[in-house]
Amino acid sequence: MSGVDGPLRVPKGLAGVSVTDTKISKSAADGTLIYRGYPIADLAAKASFEETAFLVVKGHLPAKGELREFEEGLRARSLVDRRVFEIMKGLGERAHPIDVIRTAVSALGSVDRETDMAGKEASIEAKMSVLAANSRRLPLGEGPRVSKSGLGFASDLLQMLTKQEASDFDRWVFERVLIFYMEHDMNASSFTVRVVASTLADPYAAASAGLASLKGPLHGGANEAAMEMLLEVKDPAKAKEFLDGTFREGRKLMGFGHRVYKAFDPRARLCKEYLKQMVEKRGEGAWLYDLCDAVEREMWERKKIPPNLDYYAAPIFYLLGIEVPLYTPIFAASRVFGWMAHYNEQVEENKLIRPDSVYVGPTGLKYVPPEDRRS
Ligand SMILES: CC(C)(COP(=O)(O)OP(=O)(O)OC[C@H]1O[C@@H](n2cnc3c(N)ncnc32)[C@H](O)[C@@H]1OP(=O)(O)O)[C@@H](O)C(=O)NCCC(=O)NCCS
Repeated sequence: MSGVDGPLRVPKGLAGVSVTDTKISKSAADGTLIYRGYPIADLAAKASFEETAFLVVKGHLPAKGELREFEEGLRARSLVDRRVFEIMKGLGERAHPIDVIRTAVSALGSVDRETDMAGKEASIEAKMSVLAANSRRLPLGEGPRVSKSGLGFASDLLQMLTKQEASDFDRWVFERVLIFYMEHDMNASSFTVRVVASTLADPYAAASAGLASLKGPLHGGANEAAMEMLLEVKDPAKAKEFLDGTFREGRKLMGFGHRVYKAFDPRARLCKEYLKQMVEKRGEGAWLYDLCDAVEREMWERKKIPPNLDYYAAPIFYLLGIEVPLYTPIFAASRVFGWMAHYNEQVEENKLIRPDSVYVGPTGLKYVPPEDRRS
């Protein structure tokens, strides 16, 4: 309460409102992003996915022994209960992978045998990538792919997704994209996770809710929508015409804009550079880089709105041979580490998240029985 005239009113979408203190990460309008104090560019240049995940979840970079234990813990928990796979299979070929993985995490909450909180969180973190990789295959009636010991987290996920032998550089790039997807302060899905955590529901419930929030095209679903858009434009020379049509119809261009970054998204900048290097090393795919660049330029010229991470993650996934409906599940396989960090931070100093609202509907209406109501 403001203590003045009823509840404090905040802007729509809670834009610019700080809802909590956090030590996990911070993005800022000037294009900076830190995880637990470390600049994202430094982590992307030097750290592995597992080191970064440990940092985000536990709060510090791991010593060698801690890292080994963390990696072994993930591997040991990657096996998914057969009943969860059966449920995924039963959803059928029309199910979208992100819905499949959300249902799977929910089911996992009923069958997992972890007893303490840390075990439950580690189990969800370890299994999310296996669920993501199988979220399309199983409903299509294909056999499951499981985690291969001996591979790092990112290479393992890539291998489960594509079954192809990727080059060292491609695997390195994929790992960077996963690092970028891991955490982003008060994004919609992490906030959702915190709301659920604040009721003291378990981490499976919180992660399922996070997945529900991630699905939307204004959040995690944007990477799939951006790729579909790029494939529709196809030709860099058509960028202008495409944007004309999009804005004439009052639609947004997916993969552009951000609540925090208004000049540039540092993760998108780095991914654009990686995409360029991928294309140069492969000697193919230049059309895709040129197309992304043309649409980006056109958008900047007209609206001064920069691309976000989803815009440049999408063509990277495309060149890696990953099917488009798996892009948001990949986001989830990484963001789950951020979600669990938020879950813990919320419950450590918990206060039920239960805001107020200003009622603007009618009052004093009188009940009339159904037979006396006019339709
Ligand atoms: C991410 C997003 C939801 C941020 O939204 P926000 O902070 O609430 O900003 P708004 O949607 O209010 O946008 C502010 C203005 O920029 C415009 N804008 C923002 N993103 C736009 C986009 N992708 N295409 C066209 N116009 C856009 C809005 O129409 C609005 O214009 P107006 O002031 O004339 O009404 C928004 O940029 C968006 O919908 N982007 C596309 C989806 C996407 O890529 N999501 C992934 C985010 S990482």
